[in-house]
Amino acid sequence: MARAPEPSESSGKQGLARPDRALDAALRPPRLQDFIGQSRTVERLRVMVGAARREGRALDHVLLHGPPGLGKTTLAMILAEEMGRPLRQTSGPVVEKASDLAGLLTGLQEGDLLFVDEIHRIPKSVEEFLYSAMEDFRIDIMIDQGPNARSVRLDLPRFTLVGATTRTGLLTAPLRSRFTLQTRLDYYDRAQLLTIVRRNAALLRLELDEGGAVEIARRARGTPRVVNNLLRFTRDYALERAGGKADAKVTAAALELLEIDRDGLDDMDLRILRAIAEKHQGGPVGLGSVAAAVGEDAHTLEEVHEPYLVQEGYVLRTPQGRMLSEKGWRAAGTTPPPAQGGLL
Ligand SMILES: Nc1ncnc2c1ncn2[C@@H]1O[C@H](COP(=O)(O)OP(=O)(O)OP(=O)(O)O)[C@@H](O)[C@H]1O
Ligand SMILES: [Mg+2]
Repeated sequence: MARAPEPSESSGKQGLARPDRALDAALRPPRLQDFIGQSRTVERLRVMVGAARREGRALDHVLLHGPPGLGKTTLAMILAEEMGRPLRQTSGPVVEKASDLAGLLTGLQEGDLLFVDEIHRIPKSVEEFLYSAMEDFRIDIMIDQGPNARSVRLDLPRFTLVGATTRTGLLTAPLRSRFTLQTRLDYYDRAQLLTIVRRNAALLRLELDEGGAVEIARRARGTPRVVNNLLRFTRDYALERAGGKADAKVTAAALELLEIDRDGLDDMDLRILRAIAEKHQGGPVGLGSVAAAVGEDAHTLEEVHEPYLVQEGYVLRTPQGRMLSEKGWRAAGTTPPPAQGGLL
């Protein structure tokens, strides 16, 4: 689905173009059992799918949230597959008016799944109609204008709303609370990434040895979408320069050519680290000041960019604010001032 990219959404994609659709589809794990990592989320979904299928009813509403490229859309597709029902897809910015929403909802059949990507971007005026749609499976819409204006009640089939957002903080409490399950996707650890690298390399028919796989996992910023992008470029590189085979050396050369940071940090990561180092002497510094320094919204910083830096120990969250760890200083390419050096 065509959609306007937000600046924050480019993160984790390492400046590479989106893979073409056919390949994208081939790389998506088709069923819950094929989905690597996110074990809590997968377990929760397994329980809900199992119960809904046992009772022959629609799945309850699910909200998937977490940074870009971790598998939200993939899980939505898997849910439809598991339920054996079609997935209708749309995205927040596309649903401009209540009538757009009504059109979507009345087109659904009992048990169908409606996937609303970027659900935080649904206009507030439309959001209110979702409340009764999700809870009571009906909507009241106004038709006509002026003296002829009247409210019409539409009964809806029992459907499942699967919402996805990178910015759960932007969802209103009433909307959030109407999802039976709200589940967060986190960055993948090295072992899980390695498994994804091996699986997807095989699907891409790339001959990648273990050394090459390790190189890619290390630089993938905990993100399967980045894995896929790096694999695709490595495959092209191997085809052009190395007879189709990618070992550690060939892979490293490919990623070198892409100027991927050794640890897979993306442009925004580096800007954040440098801002804390150079403008705030390594911190502690408030989130708002970091946001201003890198020209990004503070909440986006907190929900989309910072979690990875904190998880990997580049940035420390202290009661006084954000601070660089020694690893953070190194990644920023500067050395800590003497007073702070060695403290962390
Ligand atoms: N657990 C996984 N195992 C293997 N591949 C995965 C996994 N999760 C995601 N992927 C791959 O990563 C790609 C990106 O995932 P997906 O499109 O679902 O991310 P997203 O969370 O919806 O991102 P965005 O917020 O940008 O929409 C998919 O095409 C899929 O190939
Ligand atoms: Mg998505």
